[in-house]
Amino acid sequence: MDIRVETKGLPEVDADALAIVGFEGGPPESAPASGQVKELYDSGEFSGKSAEIAILHRPSGLKAKRLVLAGGGKHERFDAGEMRKLAGTVLRSLKCKGVRSIVLALPDRFQSDHFTAAATEGAILADFEPHHHKTDPQKDEKQVQSFAVLGGSQGAADQGRILGESQNFTRGLVNEPGNLLTPTRLAERAREMAAEQGLECEVIDENRMRQLGMGAILGVSQGSAEPPALIILRYRPASAASQDHLGLVGKGVTFDTGGISIKPAESMDKMRYDMAGGGAVIGAMRAIAQLKPPITVTGIIPSVENMPGSRAQRPGDIVKTLSGKTVEVLNTDAEGRMILIDALTYAQRLGCTHLVDAATLTGAIVVALGNVHAGAFSNNDVFLEKLLTASKIAGEKMWHMPLDEEYKEPLKSDFADLHNIGGRPAGAVTAAMFLRDFVNDVPWVHLDIAGSAWIDDLKPYIAKGASGIGMRTLVHLALNFQN
Ligand code: BES
Ligand code: MN
Ligand code: ZN
Repeated sequence: MDIRVETKGLPEVDADALAIVGFEGGPPESAPASGQVKELYDSGEFSGKSAEIAILHRPSGLKAKRLVLAGGGKHERFDAGEMRKLAGTVLRSLKCKGVRSIVLALPDRFQSDHFTAAATEGAILADFEPHHHKTDPQKDEKQVQSFAVLGGSQGAADQGRILGESQNFTRGLVNEPGNLLTPTRLAERAREMAAEQGLECEVIDENRMRQLGMGAILGVSQGSAEPPALIILRYRPASAASQDHLGLVGKGVTFDTGGISIKPAESMDKMRYDMAGGGAVIGAMRAIAQLKPPITVTGIIPSVENMPGSRAQRPGDIVKTLSGKTVEVLNTDAEGRMILIDALTYAQRLGCTHLVDAATLTGAIVVALGNVHAGAFSNNDVFLEKLLTASKIAGEKMWHMPLDEEYKEPLKSDFADLHNIGGRPAGAVTAAMFLRDFVNDVPWVHLDIAGSAWIDDLKPYIAKGASGIGMRTLVHLALNFQN
């Protein structure tokens, strides 16, 4: 799909569809074909609620073949997030009708680059379909050839395109089933991406992990026939604005059966998305390679398959982690935190001065926040603020969750330095406390994306499956790091 910014007047726009935003309460003041638009409002056929779409053919006084009225909701509540959804809804509802060229006019008072980027992202995210494994290669699938935004700059549209395409790259990885996307395959995909984008990629294999002493990652992966991989992606700016070095760590469990502490069969298929944090980091590195922020960024993705094979670790096993600390594995299904602690330790050895990890870590965060917000935990208020600001710019919902010494109590072990579960109360917090023990004093944010990384409900603006959550926030964090 070709992405452009146009500067024509509305009547001059030559496209299959010209889309304008209609808010609740009445037609836009300067609407083209204003008589027809007013009729739509008056008849109640269109009221401006978000996700509403009305289509007028051969609108009077316009070159465009169709005028599409897209609901923007309440004017005072409109923001870039609504813009993203609206652009997505426009794209998805017109695509299935065979419309090939769309021009979306930004509404008055929302004519800024921020909205141009959001509209572009929304259209690109909406264009993504997770059906490449179907044997009928969707011969007759309808394609939108070009999407243009009326308003803002081409630079903003280009940034939106890079973010949207990178997020779709993440979503493609996350949707892949466990048989096709093993840790080895994930590493290959990261390597291919790095070669295309001019990043350095290094993969630490099982032997090297043994030499280094990554007992936590090895313990999880030993139950699987698939070898583990620790994927390192490096971005170095041409000229750095500071000595800061951002480390992005992503949980890359390509399939989580739970191991010997096995999960119930129901919905286990979804545990393919247990590498969504790793996918978000790989996608973020892809965008960072193109947007070139003036800061050193390293992506670190520990990848394993959590299986109950005959060599699998047992509940009660004690492993020695890369940090030197020992952990008693009381539940093999709490594997994400195990692989993350070795990766977080390794990130510190690589010299990272700031760390963010993204992980589908706990079912408890789904209980706490549903599939709306991701949970954000941190040991550093200043850095957390920076991350939450980035999440607002990105339009990804994140909520500050607590950390406190008192939550550490249930992690104390009689046999090792600590054990890997904290019981049912505050499960997402005790998981974060477990990680905190391994980041020392490095400013760090942990994002628990278990609830927000997968879309189960049918939405008008995006396909079901992987959401790609976290990826845009990580990129905006890197872009705005010096502010
Ligand atoms: N990958 C899961 C967490 C998860 C749950 C992700 C639901 C997405 C949706 C994680 O590895 C896990 O199994 N966590 C356990 C931890 C428990 C054993 C302490 C959980 O949340 O049940
Ligand atoms: Mn698990
Ligand atoms: Zn898991």
